[in-house]
Amino acid sequence: MKAVVQRRYGSAVLGDLDVPVPGQDEVLLEVRAAGVDMGTWHLLSGRPYLLRVIGFGFRGPKSPVPGMDVSGVVREIGPGVTGFAVGDEVFGVCSGSFAEYAVAPVSKLARKPEVLSFTEAAAVPISGGTALQALRGVHPGQRVLVLGAGGGVGSYGVQIARALGAHVTGVCSTPKVELVRELGAQEVVDYTVADFTGTYDLILDCGGHRSLSRLRKALTPAGTLVLVGSETTEPLLGGFDRALRAMALNPFVSQKLVTLMSRERGADYDELGVMIEAGAVKPAVDRTFPLSAAVDAISYVYTRRSAGKVVVTI
Ligand SMILES: NC(=O)c1ccc[n+]([C@@H]2O[C@H](COP(=O)([O-])OP(=O)(O)OC[C@H]3O[C@@H](n4cnc5c(N)ncnc54)[C@H](OP(=O)(O)O)[C@@H]3O)[C@@H](O)[C@H]2O)c1
Repeated sequence: MKAVVQRRYGSAVLGDLDVPVPGQDEVLLEVRAAGVDMGTWHLLSGRPYLLRVIGFGFRGPKSPVPGMDVSGVVREIGPGVTGFAVGDEVFGVCSGSFAEYAVAPVSKLARKPEVLSFTEAAAVPISGGTALQALRGVHPGQRVLVLGAGGGVGSYGVQIARALGAHVTGVCSTPKVELVRELGAQEVVDYTVADFTGTYDLILDCGGHRSLSRLRKALTPAGTLVLVGSETTEPLLGGFDRALRAMALNPFVSQKLVTLMSRERGADYDELGVMIEAGAVKPAVDRTFPLSAAVDAISYVYTRRSAGKVVVTI
């Protein structure tokens, strides 16, 4: 099969590999599309170095094929699989979706909503799942601030917070203002003109790397700050030091400071599927790239030009 192959950090090329074989509780997917997100860039570049130490491969990436978000058709069933059959159209997370075929654990898959194309479905799992997990517990009428509202996680954050009945303010740069408005944010702040003001019950932080004190000042006394991630060029921790400080501070303050480590769960993708079928959430796909240009797709996401999501089509 054709696949993007990464043998060492920092480079990947289109090559030929054997079709993988599904193991226990796994299925073989004929991949139709693969979502791209910052995590794909981290695993391709090996940056920040922290991730090499925490188990993603010290000298080179553990997975020879990049790509995690996937949509496709089940072509083979491994031992122990129930609930999925050959021919099912699915979406979810696997290891190595930048390929014609990939093996995925069924615990990380859900049935593709009929209203979505394969391209749209591949844009959902990691970003949509992360936003869903970050926003669980939001009540109608609460004020939610989404930083990085025009990006992958933020674009779902705006829509899910609206679906939960919140009043949503989205913060983004000028080229993404229109998208964030279309996603349903009642207020949109272009941070290149002036930064956000006001206080919020929940801040979903997906970009900008503002200081914890700046963010806490914009929270109500019992408000919640969810740190999803924001990139810095610092090579060792890549900005994660702020999350470590939040963890240390959390027990001593009235506000809740959450450092989110999202889980890859098929049940969450089912839940997102229900929201999608109901018309409350729609993937915002900025651009697609062919498999042969998957590395360009990753670079495009890295430079943060994408409004919403980027998808590699197979
Ligand atoms: N914790 C987890 O489990 C988890 C899961 C998924 C992703 N992540 C991390 O979360 C972060 C966001 O992921 P993503 O996929 O959404 O990335 P993304 O698509 O690059 O979105 C980040 C957004 O932040 C915006 N931004 C940059 N500076 C900003 C500022 N000062 N104020 C407001 N927005 C600003 C960027 O665009 P503009 O500046 O043009 O508006 C961009 O749209 C990444 O660091 C990723 O690695 C973590």
